[in-house]
Amino acid sequence: VIEDVRVRKILDSRGNATVEVDILTWNGFGRAAAPSGASTGSREVVAFPDGGVDKIISEVEDLISSELIGMDAEDIADIDLVLKEIDGTDNYASIGGNTTVAVSMAVAKAAAASYNLPLYKYLGGNFVNEIPYPLGNMMNGGAHAGVNAPDIQEFLIVPVGANNITEAVFANSAVHKKLKELIQTKDSLFTGGKGDEGGWIPNVSNDIALEIQAQACEEVGDEIGIKISPALDMAASEFWDANQEKYIYSQDNVSRDTGDQIEFVKDIIETYNMIYVEDPFDEADFDGFKELNSLVGDKCFVCGDDIFVTNKEILAKGIEMNAANAIIIKPNQIGSLSETYATVKLAKENDVAPVVSHRSGETTDETIAHLAVAFGAPLIKTGALGGERIAKLNELIRIEEELSNPIMAKLNK
Ligand code: PGA
Ligand code: ZN
Repeated sequence: VIEDVRVRKILDSRGNATVEVDILTWNGFGRAAAPSGASTGSREVVAFPDGGVDKIISEVEDLISSELIGMDAEDIADIDLVLKEIDGTDNYASIGGNTTVAVSMAVAKAAAASYNLPLYKYLGGNFVNEIPYPLGNMMNGGAHAGVNAPDIQEFLIVPVGANNITEAVFANSAVHKKLKELIQTKDSLFTGGKGDEGGWIPNVSNDIALEIQAQACEEVGDEIGIKISPALDMAASEFWDANQEKYIYSQDNVSRDTGDQIEFVKDIIETYNMIYVEDPFDEADFDGFKELNSLVGDKCFVCGDDIFVTNKEILAKGIEMNAANAIIIKPNQIGSLSETYATVKLAKENDVAPVVSHRSGETTDETIAHLAVAFGAPLIKTGALGGERIAKLNELIRIEEELSNPIMAKLNK
């Protein structure tokens, strides 16, 4: 039974304010914090109400605690409904999806703690034994970087040959180190600057970034003897120009219409054997997604982030159209753990791979590591370096150690 709800204002990794929530029960305790996006999808729930975190502390905290105190932390779905009722809108505009998601996750952690169980086991059951592959962030461009960076937002890798999470996260960090050297050979002004998610910011064209990304995967893969595959988050909504109806690659002085973009992305996937491409089209372009998925979906994860925003109804449309074979899962895009789980369930029932993900603005909260394991996600996207990123990766190392028969998740691509 919930005895107290405490909400506080804390720092996120960009230096902005976010909320952290403590839930105290008579025999348990749960704490969770909410992250924030920079390249947010337009149909995400509202993160903070007008007045921001300060308003949450001054007005919303009491509203929530007066409703939740006395409820059972195990009744997560009921609690999420109560939060929705307190809010009263359909997008959490009045109390903020970041508030509700932090409460929802803290409640789940308190319930788990009251059984003396880790969260992944409480939510996923006794038989969970699969560890997701870490989708590591190597280089940043777009909204996560400076003006002379590539337009593509994230150059990622997956250590597909890794046999366990420790091997996987150290493979990612080795490629990150290798890329520092390779960037220096292409960008004489490189100062070692990093983007919001800890990837390097190179002052190079998209093509050169793709080349050195592939080279780093190959060289490090050979050195340590496992296969490492390149991957991308294009976050293409950010450089789609709706008036011109073109993707504007300002770093390359090239613009591409949807047809060109399909060809361009297909060519990248085939040239570099990409295992994963996220948001290769604008968030409204279901047809572009559908076309690419039909061309490369058998060998590459075609993943939707801004297009689906962890929303079950929007995912249902994507499934009907066969628009993607993977979906980014960010709990604060939808505002509660129950709604997050509903989307994951629909995805899994339809062979759409859930990819549990951090945001560009993060805290050291490690909850998503537990969610990825509980949901049986094949991939977790949580950077490669930086305190707020390694918080999740190191938690996966601990979880793997705890499991009785851990194996890496099946990638099926
Ligand atoms: P965001 O970006 O957290 O800034 O929205 C991350 C992503 O696009 O995956
Ligand atoms: Zn994304």
